[in-house]
Amino acid sequence: MDKIAVFTSGGDAPGMNAAIRAVVRGAIYYGKEIYGIRYGYQGMIEGDILKMKSYSVSNTVQRGGTILKSARSMEFKTKEGRKKAYEQLKKRDIEGLVAIGGDGTFTGAKIFYEEYGIPTVGAPGTIDNDLFGTDYTIGFDTAVNTALEAIDKIRDTANSHDRVFFIEVMGRDSGYIAIQSGIGGGAELVMVPETLTTIDDVVNTLTDGWNRSKTSAIVVVAEGDEEGDAMTIAQKVKPHLQGKDIKVTTLGHIQRGGAPSAVDRILASRLGLGALEGLLNGQVNVMAGVINDKLVYTPFGDAISKDKPLNPDLLRMVNILSI
Ligand code: F6P
Repeated sequence: MDKIAVFTSGGDAPGMNAAIRAVVRGAIYYGKEIYGIRYGYQGMIEGDILKMKSYSVSNTVQRGGTILKSARSMEFKTKEGRKKAYEQLKKRDIEGLVAIGGDGTFTGAKIFYEEYGIPTVGAPGTIDNDLFGTDYTIGFDTAVNTALEAIDKIRDTANSHDRVFFIEVMGRDSGYIAIQSGIGGGAELVMVPETLTTIDDVVNTLTDGWNRSKTSAIVVVAEGDEEGDAMTIAQKVKPHLQGKDIKVTTLGHIQRGGAPSAVDRILASRLGLGALEGLLNGQVNVMAGVINDKLVYTPFGDAISKDKPLNPDLLRMVNILSI
């Protein structure tokens, strides 16, 4: 395999640039030609593909976002779209791909291989940390730290005014950011899609808190919680907490940006190089991951579909530590 291309796809995540850099520099180290595809699968379809040199990734290890840009391509979900993408790769003799992204990215890569035989190895890049086959995904640590910084600031004002804050963090289907930032930020309660916390539970926990002389409270809500988003939950709780001043803050895309933490830069460098080396060693349709500090490869099918449950110890801890 002499010509390889790298791309980022789906939601961006801090550390993606460090992963791109590792792929590009690794490929050059092994004497390969390396291409960058801009805008993920959409750029593949449109031929937005450029040759990369070592200097193309200079001064990027510390930058958030992705220098290759990203997109969620609807066209790649169609047979016609994938055919166009294949033709663009064939024209340039590109024989293998490194995809940095999440479950949607790897689903696309798997179908693409089945149809056209172009092998892909993936590096897990998503702030959600929702992929089986790696302890952590690229961008998760930075996102948690960003959320934590915001929670700390909100706590100051919540405490000054004796208020209840519902703080919504990202995670459509996953409570990883919520649980980690909730524990780190000393939240009274964390609501995640993985376990049901009812409105009664919220009311009871907060009321117990007042009865134990708490004057303010932080409830961290993952955006995909079963009871709704933070605003919906706050509205449901309001009638049961008469006299309490309730506020809602949605942290949103701030969690996706910013310079990657040391943890994310190192993880991304390992996973980027690991994905490239896997591809060069004949791995196909697998995601590079780090489990117990060891580089491992997991088939895309498992990475996408297998559950990565939240550690129940962490959920239990919130209740004990917020007493
Ligand atoms: O998958 C990463 C993520 O940030 C999710 O946590 C969030 O639900 C989603 O992307 C938001 O996507 P978009 O930026 O396309 O609105």
